[in-house]
Formats: sequence, structure tokens, C-alpha cells
Amino acid sequence: MMDKIIVSAPGKLMIFGEHAVVYGHPCIVTAVDQRIRLSAEVLDSSDFELEAPDVEVTNYKKSISELGYRDVPEGAQFIEVAAKNLYEKFSLNKGLRITTISEFSSKFGFGSSSASTVCVVKALSELFDLDLDNKEIFDLSYEIVLDIQGKGSGFDVAAAVFGGTLYFLTGGKIIEPLNIGSLSLVVAYSGIKADTVKLINEVKERFTNNSKRLDEIYTAIGSIVEKAKEALLKNDLATVGKLMNENQILLAELGVSIPKLDSMINAARRTGAYGAKLSGAGGGDCIIVLAPQEKGFNVEQAIISVGGEIIDVKSNEEGVRVE
Ligand code: MEV
Repeated sequence: MMDKIIVSAPGKLMIFGEHAVVYGHPCIVTAVDQRIRLSAEVLDSSDFELEAPDVEVTNYKKSISELGYRDVPEGAQFIEVAAKNLYEKFSLNKGLRITTISEFSSKFGFGSSSASTVCVVKALSELFDLDLDNKEIFDLSYEIVLDIQGKGSGFDVAAAVFGGTLYFLTGGKIIEPLNIGSLSLVVAYSGIKADTVKLINEVKERFTNNSKRLDEIYTAIGSIVEKAKEALLKNDLATVGKLMNENQILLAELGVSIPKLDSMINAARRTGAYGAKLSGAGGGDCIIVLAPQEKGFNVEQAIISVGGEIIDVKSNEEGVRVE
């Protein structure tokens, strides 16, 4: 048994299929080069200690037997519940000190909660010789995320575990790596932090009296995902861009686009992008843009001129790993 380990897991960007993937349709997600790093150390005491300055949790300490009860600060939730679930499941009892460092802000919607959950599961698997394979890490981590959020397709957990670019079906029923290179995406933040569960609930409420149309939209998004998968595998970027625009129309009909996202998307399209859409739950967060390489600079300037913040990220990165 080791005493200390450092692991890391990537954040994600949804390329196609958000919202519909919560309800049994596929999506395409890519892992990005911004990672959460987590060090885990076995202690002689029976304490759980956590330092997670990025989510404003410092000097946090409680007994292992108190894990998950009382006063769990919001930023510590995923890490603490992950530890609690694994300690119970595998009858672990040693003290544990966890420290996290994030390369990206939790406000971007890159999936920092899921990436840290995956890091805890991987780290405990290594520290306590649990010998979990990636599918088991996915299943355990997804269960933890659902315990806390109550909702979610698990696509972000899959990206954190497996990395690369994945064709993913709700709950991990299909997790298929797509053999494509890194997409040269322009990614831009709207300046507005979004709340995924709130947005999922709002969409449902908005369509309470029109669930037939909601099903049609989700089915149409699902068929865009299938076409996008083919186009990506053929490296047919013009078609991928066109499908991004079609996906965005349906997301707007769901009511999850906002004027700020629309103006960033329009700025990108006006300057020659193949296509652009919001990425993630909507209501803020980021847009992704696919543009010919030579138009990249102009696209970025246009987005900045309407108040977007360009984020330098690469796609198709490696999943969870021991550092
Ligand atoms: C949020 O980034 C994407 C959603 O589809 C939620 C999910 O799939 O868990 C809205």
C-alpha cells in the first residue's frame, strides 16, 4: 500500500447533444487540457483533511466517521461524498489528507466537480489497492455525482475518466472513443456562471404543456449528434460547423441560450466560422466555435469586441492518470 499519490483528471467541453443526453440521447464530449490535480495521503490519525483553495476550502478537518454529515461546505461536497462512499463501500478506515489544485476556474463550466470526484476515486483505488478499472471508476464516480446533484447524464464524468473525444449515451450505456485528432476550437466564456441543474429543471417546466415538442427537439438533437459523429470521423469540418449551427437553433428553442451567448455566436459566424454554439447547460458559461485556421484570429477579436473572454484550451486530451 502506498502512502501518498498525485492524480489528475481533465475538464470537458460538450461538443454536441447537451440537454438531450439527459433523456436517453447521445452526445459528443471532448476532454480538455485544463486539469484538476489532487494529492491524497494516508494519515496515521482517523481524520479527513481537505485543502481545496480553488473552491475556498482551507484547513478543513473532521473525523472519518463524520464524513458526509453536518457542515459540508459546498466546495468540499463532491470530494467529501466521494471519500465517504468509497470508505463505506470498501470498508476503509485510515485517515486521509486531500489537496487539490485546479488549472481552471470552477466558473467556466468545464466540469471541475466531476473531475475532482474522478480524482478521488482513482486516488483511493491506487492508495488502497482497490484495482478499479476505468469503467468501475466511471460507475462509482457517476453514482457520487448523482447522489449530490440528483440529475445529470454522466458525460462529464466519462470525459474525466476516459479522456479523448467520446460518443456517449446517457449514464454511460455507450462510451465510444472517436478516433479523431484535436479539434481547433475557439472557446469563449460569457462571463456568466451557469447552474446546470437549475437549467435542466427550467427546460422541463417551460415545456410542461408541450412535452411532445420537447421530445421532438431532443430527438432532432440526437440525430444531429449521429451526423456530427460521421462528419467528425471524416474530418469534414464544414459539415461539423453546419451541424453546430443546427444544434444551436434547437438549444435556443429549449430556451437555454441568452442574448450574450447569441451575440458571441453571431460575432463568430460573421467573421467566417464554420459554425458556433453554446457548450454545456447554457444560461451563460461558454460557446465553442469551429473556424478555418486562418480565420481564428478574426473570430477571436470579434468575440472579444462583444464582451466574450477567449479561453485557451486544447481538446482530445488524456483522461484520469497518476502523475
Ligand atoms: C451540462 O453541461 C450538460 C447537460 O446536458 C447536463 C448533463 O448532460 O449532465 C445539460
